[in-house]
Amino acid sequence: MTPSGTVYLVGAGPGDPELITVKGLKYLRQADVVLYDRLVHPHLLDQLPSRTERIYVGKIPRHHALPQDDINDLLIEKARKGRTVVRLKGGDPFVFGRGGEESAACSRAGVKCEVVPGISSAIAAPASAGIPLTHRGISGSFAVVTGHRQPGQEDVNWSGLSGVDTLVILMGVERLPHIVNSLLESGRHSNTQVAIIERGTLAGQRVVRGILGDIVSRSVREAVVAPATIVMGHVVDWTCGTAAGTCIPTETQVSSANTAEADSAVNWPAL
Ligand SMILES: C[S@@+](CC[C@H](N)C(=O)[O-])C[C@H]1O[C@@H](n2cnc3c(N)ncnc32)[C@H](O)[C@@H]1O
Repeated sequence: MTPSGTVYLVGAGPGDPELITVKGLKYLRQADVVLYDRLVHPHLLDQLPSRTERIYVGKIPRHHALPQDDINDLLIEKARKGRTVVRLKGGDPFVFGRGGEESAACSRAGVKCEVVPGISSAIAAPASAGIPLTHRGISGSFAVVTGHRQPGQEDVNWSGLSGVDTLVILMGVERLPHIVNSLLESGRHSNTQVAIIERGTLAGQRVVRGILGDIVSRSVREAVVAPATIVMGHVVDWTCGTAAGTCIPTETQVSSANTAEADSAVNWPAL
């Protein structure tokens, strides 16, 4: 009997292909099979040996190329053939990535699974825009929340987040009006600073700034599209990473953080 191979759940990082971990890249270069998502930068696939089988499993919002159960089955099937399987996922596999389901499926099937953490867009997109999620005297806590809900699923407990200094919202572009209303109803001030970081860490990164009271109209005017990370709180007033290494207050503005030519190979629909 062929000894079972291992499944590696590898975080590809937030977008910039250089932001994968050293360990993630090592496993990628050893892979017999790679199952990869939509948010994985195409340049990472250039790292694969030519013999490696590449399987696109999609994850376009509402249009999974493969249903999750089929992805789980495929990981197990390939590993049982003795192959080294890499499941390459955007950001961190366990941050809104369904990595927990994949690792549980492997464990139920008796297939060895190792998780290689990745840099989540939740922290990388704000950092790349110079926005610190915590800052001494300004923000001592942050929460990462999904803006997306499956039909019939309960909404996020927005009022339960009222004591959190900095809010980071993933998958929130499509439901921004609902999110903003919920936050205003739960007591957040309409002057709360907001930044939306589109295509964080990638060429063409763009930052749209505003306040809770006007961010919906600003995002419509600026035609913000996914993938984008929304950050709210006093830290948005600050931009760090200046030459002096300090953080300075910024004006409310719309800005293009990265003027490098946009990478046309990466084209993501809205969520
Ligand atoms: C399904 S979640 C996956 C999150 C991923 N596991 C992570 O840790 O980054 C996809 C969401 O992550 C955020 N996202 C992913 N890549 C991004 C990027 N390059 N810039 C800004 N936000 C990004 C967006 O909010 C997007 O809708």
